[in-house]
Amino acid sequence: MTEFVNSFEQEFGRVEYEEVVRGRRSIRGYKPDPVPQKVIEEVIALATRCPSSMNTQPWHFYVVTGEPLARIRQGNTERNLAGVTPSREIRSHGAYEGVHRKRQIEIAIQLFQAMGIERDDAQGRQDWVLRGFRQFDAPLCIVVTYDKELEGGDIAQFDLGAAVNGLVQAAWSKGLGAVVNSQGIMQSPVVREHAGLADDQVIMICVAMGYPDYTFPANSVVSIRRPVAEVASFVGF
Ligand SMILES: Cc1cc2nc3c(=O)[nH]c(=O)nc-3n(C[C@H](O)[C@H](O)[C@H](O)COP(=O)(O)O)c2cc1C
Repeated sequence: MTEFVNSFEQEFGRVEYEEVVRGRRSIRGYKPDPVPQKVIEEVIALATRCPSSMNTQPWHFYVVTGEPLARIRQGNTERNLAGVTPSREIRSHGAYEGVHRKRQIEIAIQLFQAMGIERDDAQGRQDWVLRGFRQFDAPLCIVVTYDKELEGGDIAQFDLGAAVNGLVQAAWSKGLGAVVNSQGIMQSPVVREHAGLADDQVIMICVAMGYPDYTFPANSVVSIRRPVAEVASFVGF
């Protein structure tokens, strides 16, 4: 176990669950330091303690770094600059509208303000988008997939959501930062080729991960949450 102790733990001691949940935020700027494979193994072991339908555990994690990740970044960037239509392997609801669009804009404004990107700064906005397609230059990326034979239902995706939440929380508890992102898998053929995905797997999402660069402005952004009174209905109390 001591092998997994990293500098964060040494500095702050073991952190409690509530501290992890309240402290975690998406990290979009990373130190270049590599993350030892053993630390990622521990993160995945914790994440996969999550519940899944009938304990089916329909997930697989492709942890990609080094040359293969560099090729994914390059392929994503080239295809996006060339205007190749994004192709994900999961269904999309299309563009957000109404309250969902409002919340999407809210977090974008927070991030752009932190980064000093003005409304009319087309180049700054483009650079930010490309940064996402490069997996925020994180030292590693975890491509999360599910078993193809479960395609057509909605439960496997639900199970993966639980696992991915576990991944980002477990990572945070070990001093690692992460950002779940769709941008990295928008050009799924690129990811499929360079991450060496098996034919029986469907790409759900990816998670960029590494040691946070706390001087990177967007990393200090704390996103807003709807209050419990708005999101919950208590029945029969
Ligand atoms: C399914 C999913 C896809 C996401 N895709 C992106 C993305 O492509 N780019 C990005 O910067 N953040 C992405 N995020 C991160 C969200 O923007 C972030 O979780 C949300 O704004 C709440 O902020 P927090 O994680 O800091 O609490 C994604 C998160 C999820 C769950």
